[in-house]
Amino acid sequence: MIKIAVIIGSTRPGRNGEAVAKWVFDIASRRTDAQFELVDLKEANLPLLDEPVPPSRGQYSQPHTKAWAAKIDSFDGFVFVTPEYNHGTSAALKNAIDYLYKEWNNKAAAFVSYGSAGGARAVEHLRLVMAEVQVATVRNQVMFSLFTDFENFSTFKPAAHHEKSVNAMLDQLVAWTGALQPLRGK
Ligand SMILES: Cc1cc2nc3c(=O)[nH]c(=O)nc-3n(C[C@H](O)[C@H](O)[C@H](O)COP(=O)(O)O)c2cc1C
Repeated sequence: MIKIAVIIGSTRPGRNGEAVAKWVFDIASRRTDAQFELVDLKEANLPLLDEPVPPSRGQYSQPHTKAWAAKIDSFDGFVFVTPEYNHGTSAALKNAIDYLYKEWNNKAAAFVSYGSAGGARAVEHLRLVMAEVQVATVRNQVMFSLFTDFENFSTFKPAAHHEKSVNAMLDQLVAWTGALQPLRGK
């Protein structure tokens, strides 16, 4: 069965990302067309990229890189749950993406974002990054407003209509993840 990671893209103490990702994961877990797993960047505990050889050469030297590569390799697709920091994604998520190359290739991704403008700019940033690691990104995305989907900008209280949007996004993600399977050869 198709395996999809829901990646928590922030590592900050008190982060909103964990509640958002867990809510998305809970909805995803009720589906029967794919298996979902929550992946926390905080647990991956990656330092700033410390590999001497560019990731596209696949010569990983550090134990944390090898562990991260094995984890990402085990998935067919991804839901990136991203904050917006200064109109981009988080440094932690960008760093975690930069660590690898072939483990991302020929897979599909979808985005869940949050911020004052729904995190839209962070997702646009991520779409460009995904193109370079050969990940196909689906159109539907889910955006949460810090003003209307959180209390005091910190307690996640999503509006009811978002659940339908999560499933619409996952419909596209599962379809594209499956369609790219011949290119992955597994
Ligand atoms: C360094 C930093 C930069 C931020 N820049 C933006 C921004 O450009 N646009 C925005 O909408 N929110 C911005 N915010 C607010 C975040 O969207 C908000 O704090 C969100 O909860 C961050 O995600 P996290 O709690 O999972 O870390 C910024 C927050 C931080 C910490």
